[in-house]
Amino acid sequence: MALYNLGSINTDWFYQVTHCPMDGETVAADGCVNGLGGKGANQSVAAARAGSVVHHIGSVGGEGVWAVEQLKSMGVDVTHVAIELTGPTGHALIFVTPDGENRIVIFPGTNRMIEDADVKTALSRAKPKDTLLIQNETNAQAFAAQRAKARGMRVVYSAAPFDLESVREMLPHADLLAVNSVEAAQLAEALGVEITALPVPELLVTRGAKGATWHDLKEGESLFVPAPKVDPVDTTGAGDTFAGYFCAGQDQGLAVAECLELAVGAAALKVTRPGTSEAIPSLSEVRLFLESLPAAQ
Ligand code: RIB
Repeated sequence: MALYNLGSINTDWFYQVTHCPMDGETVAADGCVNGLGGKGANQSVAAARAGSVVHHIGSVGGEGVWAVEQLKSMGVDVTHVAIELTGPTGHALIFVTPDGENRIVIFPGTNRMIEDADVKTALSRAKPKDTLLIQNETNAQAFAAQRAKARGMRVVYSAAPFDLESVREMLPHADLLAVNSVEAAQLAEALGVEITALPVPELLVTRGAKGATWHDLKEGESLFVPAPKVDPVDTTGAGDTFAGYFCAGQDQGLAVAECLELAVGAAALKVTRPGTSEAIPSLSEVRLFLESLPAAQ
């Protein structure tokens, strides 16, 4: 089977700062580097590094060809990444503090200029049981989800960055909704229901350094896997790494417990490294890391 990912592609600009600027404050960064990012690109790289066949659907500007080449070099099929000459490639400004935490501002650029016709063409190759991944940094999510469902595909929706109206629009199409614990609480409150009463078959809640919980909301079953303890350097992209690994595991027919274990391992390893796409570990690195953990973890 294969994963299709309608997802953002960003140039990530990382600034190492002692603290994030407050209102009216100017902060000088101790370092600045850039690289390939975007929630979509990160998830595609994670799923490819986890061993799945991944077709990315997206758009970059004329100056973003390097990003497409880099995505390709990381094992992702980029046949359906358009070069959109009328807009700039998306980018993100990421402030990383010494505890590894971050604050991010994105400029969507061409990520929000994806043509329905290109989505349709890309999905015309998909087979029933293939998976469509979607996040909130592009346009065309509902269109893509409807096409995917019509083809018998599984739809996985990462509601990040969180936007209530987008979630409302996407929930009827999603087979699996992935959120972090803050988003889960916001969503439950906004809809006036318990998190386990959300109208979606599967729910994945990431809990940062604590781990993650998968809920089968049809059967009323849940599975929690704790995250291995690590010293964080940069948490940027950890959620994307988790989502990409989890979806790849399901795509490859692994049991949910193993999908979760690999996903928390991959995300934990990622946070020990600076950067986003380039910092996502390979499956063999994740397995070695998990084997190296003390039995109690
Ligand atoms: O989740 C991390 C990502 O969010 C970064 O790569 C950045 O581009 C933003 O999309």
